[in-house]
Amino acid sequence: MGYIQIAIDGPAGAGKSTIAKEIADRLNITYIDTGAMYRALTYKALISGANILNKDEIICLAKKSDIKFYQDNIYLDNKIINKEIRDISVSKNVSYVAQIAEVRKILVDIQRKIASSQDVIMDGRDIGTHVLPKATMKIFLTASVEERSYRRYVELKSKGTVVDLNEIKNDIINRDKIDSERAAAPLVKAEDAIIIDTTGLSIKEVVEKIISLLKGEK
Ligand code: DC
Repeated sequence: MGYIQIAIDGPAGAGKSTIAKEIADRLNITYIDTGAMYRALTYKALISGANILNKDEIICLAKKSDIKFYQDNIYLDNKIINKEIRDISVSKNVSYVAQIAEVRKILVDIQRKIASSQDVIMDGRDIGTHVLPKATMKIFLTASVEERSYRRYVELKSKGTVVDLNEIKNDIINRDKIDSERAAAPLVKAEDAIIIDTTGLSIKEVVEKIISLLKGEK
């Protein structure tokens, strides 16, 4: 029998990582945050002074980068960069990096390799449609743009970051647009994915719903 593969896709701020992490803990399986990998490369591009809009430069950087997960940490060239990749400068630029087909191929290969040897829950934009098309279960999480922006605002504020709610909302709208309209593996619901609108739902409610679905309950 193959390994369990749970795909969680959806727009920015829908609650994918919080929900996926919680389910991974409950089921004792590995959680892979694929957005963190695109963020890691974006962070590297920013600190190395590369031109984010220059595809060739970014592809070259991707080929030279070692991006991996180990014990819930993301490593870039053997350095933990969990905090750095959440910086607003990374959030603003990551969609440009993520639309480069060659970059996606490099990172998707790593993602598939991870899923080939263990049970995983993976979140992103193209997991159900492209990375793991035969996933055991596919969930498409969404919520209103107002709620998604407010959640990000509360999260960043709690971490001590000074943020403007409107700036976050505009950033989310811009990212969703680029992520959904790009040619390479755009953000789109897989035909066989189950949609969960998390607007007004608590984390616990969403987690319980997915666990019941996994158990085959209604
Ligand atoms: O989930 P996140 O906000 O950390 O994702 C960061 C960006 O990476 C997001 O704007 C879209 C992109 N991304 C992607 O294109 N494909 C994935 N599988 C995951 C993220």
